[in-house]
Amino acid sequence: MSKRRLPDIFYNPISIGGAALATVSLATIIFLTLVEWIQEHSPAYIGIISYVALPVPLILGLLLIPLGAWRERRRLRKGQPASRLSFTVDLAVPRQRAALTMFTSVSAIVLLLTAYGSYRTFEWTESVEFCGTTCHSVMEPEHTAYQYSPHARVKCVDCHVGSGAGWYVRSKLSGAYQVYATLADVYPRPIPTPIANLRPAQETCEQCHWPSHFSAEKKYINTYFKSDEANTRWTLGLLMKIGGGSSERGPSGGIHWHMNVANEVTYVSTDPQRQVIPLVRAKNKTTGVVTEYVAQDAADGIDTLRSRSWATMDCIDCHNRPSHIYRPPARIVDQSLAHGRISTDLPWIREKGMGVLKEEYTSTETALDSIALVLRDFYQKEHPAIVNEHPELLAGAIEELQTQYKRNFFPRMKVRWSVYPNNIGHMTDLGCFRCHDGKHSAADGRVISKDCNSCHTILYQGTAPLPQTLSVAGLPFEHPEDIGDAWNEMNCVECHSGR
Ligand code: HEC
Ligand code: HEC
Ligand code: HEC
Ligand code: HEC
Ligand code: HEC
Ligand code: HEC
Repeated sequence: MSKRRLPDIFYNPISIGGAALATVSLATIIFLTLVEWIQEHSPAYIGIISYVALPVPLILGLLLIPLGAWRERRRLRKGQPASRLSFTVDLAVPRQRAALTMFTSVSAIVLLLTAYGSYRTFEWTESVEFCGTTCHSVMEPEHTAYQYSPHARVKCVDCHVGSGAGWYVRSKLSGAYQVYATLADVYPRPIPTPIANLRPAQETCEQCHWPSHFSAEKKYINTYFKSDEANTRWTLGLLMKIGGGSSERGPSGGIHWHMNVANEVTYVSTDPQRQVIPLVRAKNKTTGVVTEYVAQDAADGIDTLRSRSWATMDCIDCHNRPSHIYRPPARIVDQSLAHGRISTDLPWIREKGMGVLKEEYTSTETALDSIALVLRDFYQKEHPAIVNEHPELLAGAIEELQTQYKRNFFPRMKVRWSVYPNNIGHMTDLGCFRCHDGKHSAADGRVISKDCNSCHTILYQGTAPLPQTLSVAGLPFEHPEDIGDAWNEMNCVECHSGR
């Protein structure tokens, strides 16, 4: 240490420590940048560690250098002795040379491992396992429903965070509060929706689904069962008009008209879950013409409504349950019956199955026991013959209902279909009928349509098996149960919410 290139005051423990910290940080940044280059599928945010997190110790280290020097100068001015580094290394001494080599290589290895470790930690915080299972019981409903959804292969962060540094930092900041809420057990049950500050759909959904691409129609064949002794089957064929994306790609009419680059729909809602929508505006972006629709039964005056905050319609106004789908009892039982997982030979199973699912239980364990108990009790009393001759029918039904219960009901988090409205249809929730109830009218008398063949064409309906040829002309709706005109005068949800 004979030759010193810097003024002596820099050779103090604080400055040297700072220099070491800065060097380590810089080396790590370089290492991570190399990893990012080399690894083909490195996550979009690896840069956050290198460019947001690590510069903090780097700058801190750099600041420590002059700070140490300043303190040193003060010492010297006060006449105190120069602070000494506690050790000196003489490279001429073989033992010291070996020790230094050893120290440097071990530090280098530790450094690389730490960098790799923080990289893996980062990757892990982006994984479905981390989001879905770390705070196990809190995220259990979302994680479970997700696994049975069309998006089971899409990572939580692709919808909830998206790419880019800003949202990553925002999500980790709110995540920090969530960790606290979980540890302190002060989180709400169920977790309220709509999620405040959910990233706009343009930056999440639209990264994979291209709005302009929507065109043509999609065929649905739905199977229902009536709640009678025979569990009578009812089939409904619908042709869903999912077009409307862009006139360049096909007919421009259809459901995704709302998403058409040429139109913009804005609305005012009066409740947190956006189920009551008294005021709607549709703007034709080409002509600039704005049509305003007001609900006939709006509780407030028009000026009060206009002064409330407006929302612009996007994917999530309809697809608010793309991944966390908690199905209502009727839908669960119908699907199990349709797929043969529950036998239609069990009398009244449609009604009884719905009944046991709908009940509110204190825990999953109690629910599973009660489902078995109640059903066994009913069939042994009312239909002993079928239990004795075909015990497998009842056993199968119980097992299927228990499986479905575990996928759709979460007593610990108070989560079930009825706490989260699903906006995609109009049967179990208001959905499209929040606006399309035929009662939202414009000054010129036009209404937002409730015509049963405007969003879908009814291809077929009835108890007979599906015919070989279907008519695309569209049939007038026939309600499976004779309820007069009630299905048209009331909203379906008033009888079908299952609540
Ligand atoms: C396809 C996109 C998508 C994926 C993938 C996704 N979510 Fe969601 N999530 C949403 C939307 C949309 C909402 C509802 C937003 C609203 O209503 O405001 C939501 C709501 C939630 C909620 C609020 C409570 C609820 O049930 O609505 C939680 C918690 C949640 N998600 C966690 C997760 C977790 C954990 C994962 C991964 C296991 C995940 N999400 C994957 C889109 C997604
Ligand atoms: C990372 C890519 C990705 C993102 C982000 C994404 N999706 Fe999807 N989505 C898919 C894929 C892939 C499928 C097709 C799944 C299949 O057919 O098995 C799909 C299917 C769908 C379907 C059809 C479901 C069905 O029952 O057939 C809807 C609706 C949908 N997505 C809406 C959304 C919405 C709304 C969002 C934003 C909240 C979103 N998606 C975000 C990839 C994505
Ligand atoms: C926030 C209010 C709102 C909601 C919710 C809503 N719509 Fe609309 N919808 C409108 C308005 C406004 C129009 C334009 C009416 C007009 O000017 O003719 C429209 C028009 C349409 C059209 C006709 C598009 C065309 O080709 O001209 C279809 C189809 C449609 N909506 C389907 C749906 C479906 C399906 C849902 C539910 C998943 C839904 N809408 C939910 C407001 C809404
Ligand atoms: C007005 C309500 C509404 C809006 C807004 C809306 N959708 Fe849809 N979307 C529907 C309906 C209704 C269907 C057909 C029924 C279903 O799939 O459950 C559908 C179907 C889909 C499908 C399946 C298409 C297929 O070929 O199977 C995808 C994917 C999708 N929407 C994505 C989106 C994305 C992404 C956005 C935002 C850019 C969006 N939707 C906006 C109502 C809407
Ligand atoms: C604004 C668009 C729109 C209008 C108007 C409309 N529907 Fe629908 N309907 C839908 C959508 C979207 C779905 C599919 C929801 C889904 O993906 O499960 C649907 C589903 C249905 C189903 C299947 C129900 C289910 O959830 O299993 C029936 C039955 C039905 N519609 C009947 C009608 C009748 C009857 C009318 C007229 C009173 C009508 N619809 C008017 C959009 C509409
Ligand atoms: C006044 C009450 C009432 C209204 C309003 C109503 N329904 Fe129903 N609906 C019933 C009853 C009762 C049944 C028979 C229930 C059963 O057998 O379990 C039924 C049965 C059905 C079924 C057979 C499957 C099932 O879940 O039982 C479908 C599909 C259906 N309704 C669709 C609709 C649609 C779509 C609308 C709105 C356009 C509607 N209903 C409005 C009372 C109503």
